[in-house]
Amino acid sequence: MRHFIIDTDTASDDAVALVMALRHPGVQVEAITIVGGNVPVDQGVQNALYTAELCGQQVPVYRGMAAPLLRPLETGQHVHGGDGMGDIGLPLSGRAPTPGHGVSALIETISRFAREITLVTLGPLTNIAVALLQEPSLAAKVENCVVMGGIGQGYGNVTPVAEFNIWVDPEAAKIVFESGMPLTMVGWDVSRTYAVFDPTEAARLRRLGTPLAEFCVDIQQMVNQFALNVTRLEGFDLPDPMAMAVALNPTVATTTKRLYVEIEADSRACRGQTIVDHLQITGQEPNVNVVLEASREKFLSMLHQSVRE
Ligand code: RIB
Ligand code: CA
Repeated sequence: MRHFIIDTDTASDDAVALVMALRHPGVQVEAITIVGGNVPVDQGVQNALYTAELCGQQVPVYRGMAAPLLRPLETGQHVHGGDGMGDIGLPLSGRAPTPGHGVSALIETISRFAREITLVTLGPLTNIAVALLQEPSLAAKVENCVVMGGIGQGYGNVTPVAEFNIWVDPEAAKIVFESGMPLTMVGWDVSRTYAVFDPTEAARLRRLGTPLAEFCVDIQQMVNQFALNVTRLEGFDLPDPMAMAVALNPTVATTTKRLYVEIEADSRACRGQTIVDHLQITGQEPNVNVVLEASREKFLSMLHQSVRE
């Protein structure tokens, strides 16, 4: 049995990533910790609890940090909808999280499965940074941390040079990227290249006809508009599910390079940039396995399999 712990700002793509993990044979999701990001943290808690219930899974869901370390929270509700799940009228309230703070849950769970647990982060890295500040030894207790965040090569989705998860809390990302934790970065460039769903592809997924298949597509209706109108894609993309696919099956990543990555936290214009040293021109020791190419075929196959009855 493989042990996973997932940190998420539960919105429409995060939810699909949760479905993939919760329904993957041989993987036990030991806990889900929620961070403020796409939506306020309490909405993220409700969205995660609803998704786990839909998967028929009992999994501890903990409320974590509500805001970035030093900055006010900038949500992605203009992208994913007010409730983060496409504003399609789902009953996303009234469920109770597991008592305890998400940061404490990260420290306790990772320590319990030391060096035999995969941490997957799908939102801003605030919870992870606070856990590392409280318990620096945590970095060595994670077998691997797969981060949906940053940009391996290409341009951003919040500014020309920054991806949302890193941009929201660059100070937290800096702490994590400098911590020595084993990191695999799956940037937004990978999603926009290999995980876009045009109407035909979206219909193919939905036509699997299960409640989960319909859920995974229907909650994307807001982000689909953002993709068409702002990020100029053929339809919605699924960055968190792509990162989860890499965590579940590393062969999904077809090109990965170990490179030095620095986080820009001081600049106004380049806030949240993941500065990837492709030429090793800084001479700095590489600290991240950067995924640059992926198998769309393997990704789609895993996603389809996860929503079948
Ligand atoms: O930039 C994409 C990332 O930001 C995804 O994790 C999405 O859910 C948002 O959190
Ligand atoms: Ca997310």
